[in-house]
Amino acid sequence: IVTAGPTWEALDPVRGLTNHSSGRMGYALASALQDAGAAITLISGPAALHPPYGVNCIRITSAEEMAESVMANIATCDIFVGVAAVADYRPVVSAEQKIKKNSETLTLALVRNPDILAMVAALDNAPFTVGFAAETENVTSNAEKKLTAKGIDMIAANPVSGDNSAFNSDSNELTLIDKNGISHLSRCSKPLLAQKLTKEIARRYYETYPAKDS
Ligand code: C5P
Repeated sequence: IVTAGPTWEALDPVRGLTNHSSGRMGYALASALQDAGAAITLISGPAALHPPYGVNCIRITSAEEMAESVMANIATCDIFVGVAAVADYRPVVSAEQKIKKNSETLTLALVRNPDILAMVAALDNAPFTVGFAAETENVTSNAEKKLTAKGIDMIAANPVSGDNSAFNSDSNELTLIDKNGISHLSRCSKPLLAQKLTKEIARRYYETYPAKDS
């Protein structure tokens, strides 16, 4: 399973909270993993992309829908890669009708969304879990904290500020962290980077589960 794209947390029927994720990294990774022989379920938030040919693509809108779809498909999953930029919070209520501008200020009450990656990693018989970390500062140390906090096998961190931002870009670079240390995949196109990352995931997966058929 690969999750990709942003999520959309509705405020009312026409507005919502979202982010700059284009979905390109997740779609490229789904394609590269499929080329390496995996049967892929791509669970995608709103993205203006066609899913790679042959990939089972499930389109969802909100983080809660993404969590539901992941859990419905996780039982037969060997490797879970959370590339989606899941919204951390959603509005407590989503108004049934368009919110009117009746006052000078408007306060939104938000509630935490489920952490899908942490939920997957905590399952009995959890798949090999890979997370992404989009960071604006201290990329490596923040990613290391997430690896531990979420209890995942590997994290791929990318910068999302300044000229080298991964968001809405054709290229990206990744710092890979797992229990054995840190390595770096230098900046290149997202499809090429996805191929390199696929090799790194496959190597660690077979190290973790040597009995699985390689
Ligand atoms: O905590 P943060 O959002 O920075 O972590 C990023 C990683 O966690 C990504 O792999 C993302 O897909 C995943 N995530 C998730 N559910 C959330 C928030 C993030 O699966 N609610």
